[in-house]
Amino acid sequence: MIIDAVVQQSPTLQFSLTAQKLKTQGRDIISLGLGEPDYDTPDHIKAAAAEALRAGMTRYSAASGLPELRELVAQKLRQDNGIPAKADEVLIVPGAKNALFLACAAVLRPGDEVINLTPCYVSNVPILKLAEPGCVMHTVPLLADTFRLDRARILAALSPRTRLIVINYPNNPSGKMLDADDAAFLRAVVAERDCYLLSDEIYERLAIADLAHISPAAFPEIAERVITVNGFSKSYAMTGWRIGYTHAAPALTAVMLKVHQQLNTNTAAFIQKAAVAALAGPQDRLRQFIGDLRARAALYRDFVAATPTVRSAPVEGGFFGFLHIGATGLGSDACATALLEDTGVAVIPGISFGEDFDAWVRISLAAATGELAEGLRRIGGFMARHAAA
Ligand SMILES: Cc1ncc(COP(=O)(O)O)c(C=O)c1O
Repeated sequence: MIIDAVVQQSPTLQFSLTAQKLKTQGRDIISLGLGEPDYDTPDHIKAAAAEALRAGMTRYSAASGLPELRELVAQKLRQDNGIPAKADEVLIVPGAKNALFLACAAVLRPGDEVINLTPCYVSNVPILKLAEPGCVMHTVPLLADTFRLDRARILAALSPRTRLIVINYPNNPSGKMLDADDAAFLRAVVAERDCYLLSDEIYERLAIADLAHISPAAFPEIAERVITVNGFSKSYAMTGWRIGYTHAAPALTAVMLKVHQQLNTNTAAFIQKAAVAALAGPQDRLRQFIGDLRARAALYRDFVAATPTVRSAPVEGGFFGFLHIGATGLGSDACATALLEDTGVAVIPGISFGEDFDAWVRISLAAATGELAEGLRRIGGFMARHAAA
């Protein structure tokens, strides 16, 4: 079956499960693996869902989403992202992951070519293949170390059949944000080639460095060709609630809505009420999380500076650092396995994010600061032992 061939179990999940299993066996495990905030969903968000349940919001609802939430999202996109969004260009869907699928399903036809920049979110390739098994994938790695666009390779990968370019900034796993030069390059490519740009901005609100987030849909000449995906999982600690959204031109939105209707019917209405509370309610927990992440990114930067056997780009946004462990001479899978067995620290092998990144591992900063500090100390010891060997 094609599905069986294109869809593997998520490697990030596999590593985290192993770490959890070792923990239940009594091992002293520090998990720097999984991609979710290390705090619980704020109470006012939970209360809004409970209230909606009490009020009977338990039935099918409008497929596109509650008007109130679509308007709030459009307002957010206008204010924060400079996108002249209208509520009817927004779809509320069960998670950003689902949004990525809907976007790919709406745009891709058999034989269409896709440029997927790596390192990328582990689900990008399976989602693209599930949405259109007949698409042709071109993997273009970002430049090693700086994680900026490799323009020559992108230009070489473009063809008259290029239909879609997939980007994610702030980037999982490299922590890189889209800078103005790279954004201008993408803007020119999309305008000239008339292809689509799928911009996954799920980590947008988690700004570590003092850099402005750039949303390509704010560029008027390509606005019609950009699908923006975002959600609530990472900013509001709502990973388990399954809610996200798309913004796109009305014609594209109509196609995504048809797929969404057939696949999901609607996103649970009481969960949408929780999302309303997330956007419209107090932002203090999010601000505190950003403060925590900045402190942890500084800890990570100091660790990298003090450890000659590793290197890493600074974390600009999101909650991941991408650490070069090539000095061990091990592939990233073997390195992550040895690290877990020897030191009890769980990280994710770089190969999961693209085959060019087998000398890297992903470190999550969404762990308690003390745990992160201890985890980095153990990684330092591991590197000293293995790089010297
Ligand atoms: C880059 C990226 N996009 C999308 C998602 C999925 O987000 P959601 O929980 O909203 O489906 C993740 C989650 O890890 C991610 O890292």
